[in-house]
Amino acid sequence: MTLHLDNLPRTIYVEREGNKPLVVMIDQRALPGELLWLRTDDWRAVVDAVKTLAVRGAPAIGIAGAAAVMLAAFSLAEECSSAALFAARLRKVAASVAEARPTAVNLVWGVRRATQTAARALGAGRSTHECAEALYGLTEALIAEDEAANRAIGAHGAALLRARAAAAGRPLGLLTHCNAGSLATAFYGTALGVVYAAAEEGLVARVYADETRPVGQGARLTVWELAQAGVPTTLICDNMAATMMAAGLIDAVVVGADRIAANGDAANKIGTLGVAVLARHFGIPFYVAAPVSTVDLDTPDGTAIPIEERDASEVLPAPLSGVSVRNPAFDVTPAELITAVVTERGAVSPADIGSFAKE
Ligand code: MRU
Repeated sequence: MTLHLDNLPRTIYVEREGNKPLVVMIDQRALPGELLWLRTDDWRAVVDAVKTLAVRGAPAIGIAGAAAVMLAAFSLAEECSSAALFAARLRKVAASVAEARPTAVNLVWGVRRATQTAARALGAGRSTHECAEALYGLTEALIAEDEAANRAIGAHGAALLRARAAAAGRPLGLLTHCNAGSLATAFYGTALGVVYAAAEEGLVARVYADETRPVGQGARLTVWELAQAGVPTTLICDNMAATMMAAGLIDAVVVGADRIAANGDAANKIGTLGVAVLARHFGIPFYVAAPVSTVDLDTPDGTAIPIEERDASEVLPAPLSGVSVRNPAFDVTPAELITAVVTERGAVSPADIGSFAKE
């Protein structure tokens, strides 16, 4: 299958307007109707974009976190009279950026990469302006690293699907939940990276995309992205996955992750757990595709993963008297329901992910 990956825009990048650094992000709230861009030199606007899901998806918000700290460093370098004041204020900014959303560990990871880079630059006696420049370089490097990791994840995932397609003697039907695509990363995607790599080899007949209530990442983003790339796509409501599986249309499930605990339990968009339970019932392999930076060795198991509870208006637009609403944005799939975690360093059993990530 010939893909049109060049139709996919880059999700987040940095550029200069004269000397001024800018962060440029697709405003994903406007998709699929309009492809709009946010361009800002204000770190608070990046944090707002993360909170309001203009930029979303674990790897993308990790990059956004580092980029926000970078923009703050450029402003603080102008405002602060000493390196000590600069460092103290940058630490405060970093703490508030890291709190923008709680579940995806990549956000904390991206912010930590930035604070480590800043500490190293200042520790080496570099000026606050040079420190800000080092953070600009870091943001560019994280974007390049992310795409490279996704392409490697894609290649490892395609190898798994190649074996399945060979056993089936035909290209495969795949199911995905939420958007773990190019839009959730700098470029290419994790779960959809696996789809793209496999589709290029002719291993994919069709991708079934769950709508993904309540925010609709599948209905608004995944199907748009797959159509742009030229992958045959069918949109289904979340409650249709079982029927598609029962009809024999799904050969494998591929999803992303926001945080993988040391024991292999994986948090991902709400509804993923239900898909994993169904996949086990129907004997369908369930793959989690994520970079090693999504593994959190400080979180022993899924019960310790903080789950973001979002505003009730996402579920019930106008309040109804006497009705309360729950809106957990993520759920945790236990390791025993995951066939393999596909990382940029290879596919691994969830039971081994902790030791694998430690290496
Ligand atoms: O709330 P979102 O849209 O940020 O949730 C995104 C997901 O759950 C993705 O599946 C996950 O971040 C993996 S992205 C490669």
